Amino acid sequence: MVRRLDGKVILVAGAGAIGNELASRYAAEGASVVLGDINEELARSTVDRIVSEGGRATSTHLDGSDESSLGAAVALCRDSYGGLDGAHLNYVAFEDNLADNGVMELDLASFDRLMHVNVRGFFLATRAVLPEMIKRGGGSIVYTSSTAAFDGGRQRVAYAISKTAILALMRHVSTRHGPDGIRANAIAPGFIAWPNRPDIYTPEIVEHAKLGQRIKSRIGHPNDIAAMGAHLMSDDGAFITGQTFAVDGGLTMRP
Ligand SMILES: NC(=O)c1ccc[n+]([C@@H]2O[C@H](COP(=O)([O-])OP(=O)(O)OC[C@H]3O[C@@H](n4cnc5c(N)ncnc54)[C@H](O)[C@@H]3O)[C@@H](O)[C@H]2O)c1
Repeated sequence: MVRRLDGKVILVAGAGAIGNELASRYAAEGASVVLGDINEELARSTVDRIVSEGGRATSTHLDGSDESSLGAAVALCRDSYGGLDGAHLNYVAFEDNLADNGVMELDLASFDRLMHVNVRGFFLATRAVLPEMIKRGGGSIVYTSSTAAFDGGRQRVAYAISKTAILALMRHVSTRHGPDGIRANAIAPGFIAWPNRPDIYTPEIVEHAKLGQRIKSRIGHPNDIAAMGAHLMSDDGAFITGQTFAVDGGLTMRP
């Protein structure tokens, strides 16, 4: 594997299917990685594997909706590895994910909880990582959005709102902190298989997902997101900022 991230320190906030793959890829390309999740055990098992394969990584408990927890994760990057060059904000609350909830049905407590994590949390995370990255002379922030941000779906209205809101945040950071050397971009995954949850991505759902894609041979894998993330974290992405990249097999097409 090419080592485009040698010498960089990257915080991956949110383990899980995609986050674990992000951490593994960034470490495999040479970065020192801090992987945090509210489910610390999940982050720890991925980090154990990375370290056993010769990578540099540390896990931590991270609540991405809590300012002090985010601050502690950034401090861990600084204390363990000397600073911070990249942050991939990837965690998500899925309160309205699997039910047939529309704007008339979704209960407000779920709406508020989802916004608290996905929008307020990403806002707080951005504030937590920027100072340490600016101290280093700049860096790259990658936000995991979703094609739900622009597909006008019938369901998951709060999720879609939250995944759209972070695009506004990303563009703001790109404009306001570009002069500080900060690049900010978003990845919008399409259907990405959860390797450990074949009960959710059943063969029927996979076939249904492929109907809307231009690529018909498969749905996405967390690797596909990690490959885009590594590009944006690396100097190969040095002239890219303020952009949203759909990684979705051609599910969506936008100008
Ligand atoms: N899998 C897909 O098909 C798909 C499609 C589009 C977008 N996405 C996006 O990709 C990202 C990763 O999703 P995934 O599919 O890996 O899901 P996942 O459920 O496997 O991972 C999400 C992780 O976020 C963690 N989390 C939840 N609340 C948290 C909090 N307050 N603080 C810290 N961690 C918290 C969970 O513990 C979990 O490990 C999400 O932002 C999601 O919206 C996924």
